[in-house]
Amino acid sequence: MPEYKLVSKNFDYPDQPELQAAVSRGAYEQWKRVLSEQIPPDKITEEVKTAKLRGQGGAGFPAGVKWGFVPKASRKPKYLCVNADEGEPGTFKDRKLLERDPHQMLEGIAIACYAVDIHTAFIYMRGEFYEPQRIVQQAIDDAVAAGLLGKNILDSGFDLNVIIHMGAGAYICGEETALLNSLEGWKGWPRLKPPFPAVVGAFRSPTVINNVETLSGVPHILRMGGEAFQKIGTEKDGGTKLFAVSGHVEKPGVYELTMGSSLKELIYDVCGGIKGGKKLKAVIPGGSSAPVLKPEEIDVPLEFESMAAAGTMLGSGAVIVMDETVSIPQIFMIMARFYAHESCGQCTQCREGCTWIYKISQKILAGQGKPSDIDLMLDLADNMNGKTVCPLGAAMAMPTIAFLNKFRGEFEGMMKN
Ligand SMILES: Cc1cc2nc3c(=O)[nH]c(=O)nc-3n(C[C@H](O)[C@H](O)[C@H](O)COP(=O)(O)O)c2cc1C
Repeated sequence: MPEYKLVSKNFDYPDQPELQAAVSRGAYEQWKRVLSEQIPPDKITEEVKTAKLRGQGGAGFPAGVKWGFVPKASRKPKYLCVNADEGEPGTFKDRKLLERDPHQMLEGIAIACYAVDIHTAFIYMRGEFYEPQRIVQQAIDDAVAAGLLGKNILDSGFDLNVIIHMGAGAYICGEETALLNSLEGWKGWPRLKPPFPAVVGAFRSPTVINNVETLSGVPHILRMGGEAFQKIGTEKDGGTKLFAVSGHVEKPGVYELTMGSSLKELIYDVCGGIKGGKKLKAVIPGGSSAPVLKPEEIDVPLEFESMAAAGTMLGSGAVIVMDETVSIPQIFMIMARFYAHESCGQCTQCREGCTWIYKISQKILAGQGKPSDIDLMLDLADNMNGKTVCPLGAAMAMPTIAFLNKFRGEFEGMMKN
């Protein structure tokens, strides 16, 4: 069994969000050690680099490398933004981390801030997360009252203010630069990069942006050492990853696996196979933006490079499993509706392209499509892919290309000729 519990190891204790219970299971031990031993900040960043901890929000950028980009000599304040927007369709793992083990994430935030000399951290949380907000705010208040966060933490002279900022329920605000604009009170439109947020981020100041799961892994790196953490996973992808599995499997849910486990094992061994013994038809392996895989393509290691080599993405680790009863043109239309609704409208290619693809997919489902519509959608996708300010255009284009090419016959079967 490739299951390996690291960040999810305390999910099953109902009292884990309470400070005393979390401390009794080791919470804040590494944070206290960092402060009492005055571990040099650069040593922590180096350890995170050695650990090969990859960003778990979708892009998989190495966390330690990102921290290293923040200019040390900046006279401006520096910020940490925790991406708790969790908007990618199919993704529901960060919610678990926020609700089931908020102190683990807060400890990761504290250590990251110490490593990069940051004294203000924002947790940007999706607007619908009322319950996670309540739980995390309580955890922050308890940690501040215990002297683990706030001013002059454990008499070390280190201050850290952690602030929750609620979004308003827009998918685009999970994109890191749209998140920054939204945090500052502007419309959630992405910014051009470069400059990258590590240099010019929140309030025009150097900013680290990391996903909830990325930061939750940090205390484990300090506990076990970067090398041991890396070895749990693969050469380039250290440690573990949470997978949110939904759709037609016997046991949907959130599972933690070592990096490099196989997608096939996840579906058949961990999740008990296809529901009701039906046949597998398709798998979206990394959230709705990840190109779909056919059954013969799922024997692939769950790591960033291997998934890219298979023509798809590990993304946010949201695995959507579809059995033989699923209509691909219908799934495709639902997905296109989502992207057409969520495109922020800043770039013409994305705004028009998502809407056109949605309208054409509706037409096909209504039996009004013609064979040339498939090539028209592929052409639209080509005009969106990599040609917009942020990757939302590509997030629609890439699955469009995969769905249409891999299931062309099913689309053509719905045409009126
Ligand atoms: C349209 C779009 C939506 C995104 N939504 C999220 C999200 O909900 N949560 C997240 O952590 N990252 C999301 N990302 C990725 C972020 O831009 C960014 O890469 C990530 O927060 C960096 O943290 P990490 O390196 O720890 O993964 C999104 C990206 C795009 C293009």
